Amino acid sequence: MGGPGRDTMPGVEIPTLTTRRLILRPGDSGDVEALTRIWSDPEFARHLGGPVTLPDAVWHQLAGCLGCWQLTGVGPWCVVERDTGTLVGRAGLWDEPGWPGVEAIWFIGRPWWGRGYATEAAAASITWAFARRPELDRVVAAIVPANDGSLRVARRLGMTRTATAYLHEEPHALYAVSRDAWARRAAPGEL
Ligand SMILES: CC(C)(COP(=O)(O)OP(=O)(O)OC[C@H]1O[C@@H](n2cnc3c(N)ncnc32)[C@H](O)[C@@H]1OP(=O)(O)O)[C@@H](O)C(=O)NCCC(=O)NCCS
Repeated sequence: MGGPGRDTMPGVEIPTLTTRRLILRPGDSGDVEALTRIWSDPEFARHLGGPVTLPDAVWHQLAGCLGCWQLTGVGPWCVVERDTGTLVGRAGLWDEPGWPGVEAIWFIGRPWWGRGYATEAAAASITWAFARRPELDRVVAAIVPANDGSLRVARRLGMTRTATAYLHEEPHALYAVSRDAWARRAAPGEL
């Protein structure tokens, strides 16, 4: 051992995105308390396998998000309201071995549902993904079929259902938007 190696691999620089009402920024350990409040709500976690109430477990989730950036060059951001500085959720991109493509993901805490935040954050993420990854021909979303709110976000983004995908052995409705369709749909910030 010794010398520069994998354990000295430099960190990926995670960008910060700004939308009309939101800031998408890298998460850090100072976010664990606010994320735990969001993830411990059973209604929020209904389609996510149940609430996560322990800050330690939320810290591990956050570490996974930052690890996704490091391993794949894409990942989730923490979503903050510009007006108040409040952390309202997590959204962005996800990729892992066996995935049907780069996925747009969205999680907004219950106090902020119904304001269009998931759609706004996802739109910025998708625009960023197509701009930064020229080889990407589509962005997908994999959604548990009973998750009405999430299905609506996908449709509102102009995604269409393409298939059923088995991810971690669970069936998911697979939605997708192509690069061409996205370019036709909206200029950045328009949604
Ligand atoms: C799904 C979720 C991200 C939606 O966030 P949001 O910021 O409220 O979504 P938007 O305001 O952008 O609304 C998009 C659409 O979803 C609808 N919607 C939002 N939450 C909903 C819910 N719980 N049930 C049914 N519809 C819902 C909105 O009315 C809107 O519909 P419209 O296009 O017909 O007007 C949010 O409810 C959430 O984080 N849920 C828990 C985590 C989760 O399941 N994430 C998705 C994993 S695949």
